[in-house]
Amino acid sequence: MAAPIPVDGGGVRAAIPASAHPPLHLNCKSDHSARTYNTPVSEIIEVCPVDELQPGQRRLVEWEDLEIGVFNCGGNLYAIEDRCSHDDGPLAEGEFDETACTVECPRHGSLFDLKTGKPMTLPAYVPVDTFPVIIEDETIKLEVE
Ligand code: FES
Repeated sequence: MAAPIPVDGGGVRAAIPASAHPPLHLNCKSDHSARTYNTPVSEIIEVCPVDELQPGQRRLVEWEDLEIGVFNCGGNLYAIEDRCSHDDGPLAEGEFDETACTVECPRHGSLFDLKTGKPMTLPAYVPVDTFPVIIEDETIKLEVE
């Protein structure tokens, strides 16, 4: 039996021998099977110099088979896929409200929040893709994957 250990305040506490600890079972069996992870690799693409996209303006860029609309809402930049989630209409050419930071699909009128890509009115109900906007070296860039 192990000797008691003095504790601050005059009391004692019993030392527990290592053999009294329950065996440690780590339940982490590995089957060593091969696993593959399809993590998308992001890419940075350039849009334009910062001073070429003023508040209230928009610009369309292409990346692979995507078209992406980049919008300047009062100095904040947002990028969404230029394809309406309702019926694949060209979203970025719709009416752009800089103050509300929305764009209206020109085909059937769904209003989209440019910050989130979420539709605010029917008939669209599925969000469109958004892309992080980066400003680096006075250039607007997008992170795409
Ligand atoms: S294609 Fe955009 S609302 Fe129908």
